[in-house]
Amino acid sequence: MTETLAGEVRRRLVLALDFDDSVLAMRWALRLRRTFGVAKVGLELWSAAGPGAVTELVGEGFEVFVDLKLADIPNTTYRAARVLGALGARYLTVHASAGAASLRAGVEGFAEGAERANLPAPAVLGVTVLTSESEAPPELVAERARLAGEAGCGGFVCAAKDLVAARPAAPSLLAVVPGIRLAGRSNDDQGRAATPGAAVRAGADLLVIGRAVTEAENPEAAANEIVGEVLGAVGGGTGPEQATVGSEQAEEATTPPRTR
Ligand code: C5P
Repeated sequence: MTETLAGEVRRRLVLALDFDDSVLAMRWALRLRRTFGVAKVGLELWSAAGPGAVTELVGEGFEVFVDLKLADIPNTTYRAARVLGALGARYLTVHASAGAASLRAGVEGFAEGAERANLPAPAVLGVTVLTSESEAPPELVAERARLAGEAGCGGFVCAAKDLVAARPAAPSLLAVVPGIRLAGRSNDDQGRAATPGAAVRAGADLLVIGRAVTEAENPEAAANEIVGEVLGAVGGGTGPEQATVGSEQAEEATTPPRTR
């Protein structure tokens, strides 16, 4: 089936649901569902609502990104990842700094959980260096991206400006980039922020976006601006009208994003 550009963009946009209340989180996910095909459950929402937040979002048709940044011993990581795989999560973060054995354990557990629940193979994402750090030594970013690839991860997480170091070290993995801000807005606590267009041009596959939309004066307008930038950067669109919030062209996400 030929996919529309709007559908492709939607599968690349991850909404960070950083809320302490699952009702509020779900309200935001549904409000912006035409733009964001992936919903991210991070530490805050997980602490407030646990597995219920994941299953509810899966039930609404989102690809769910569980961002717990696991960094425990291999056995614990394996067992936690297995539970999350069985819940239907599509992406799970594991800290690459936890080492090769923990990364591999996360990959195995996540895949096994999904398989047991008869779900398609999910992807562990190795976190390289947090985007809140103002500096990330390129050798360290490259080493962690390489480690993620060798451990069987489906992707790695890094700042946009780290892609130049990370991409050659893991050429076939999905590059997942948080720290996204629209030009001229506050970076908050993100030390290495980039605009959506710059991140995509640098090679990002998935963009993780939270406050740039959820704390915007007009979230729909911010979402449209992001879509417009991404369309411009992938070279196939002329503007946000191709996949705006509320556009009937936006499609449900039914397949995982491409791998490189
Ligand atoms: O609001 P903002 O767009 O800055 O949110 C970024 C999201 O991405 C947060 O949920 C944060 O935990 C997550 N994240 C990050 N840096 C990483 C990995 C994940 O900011 N390296």
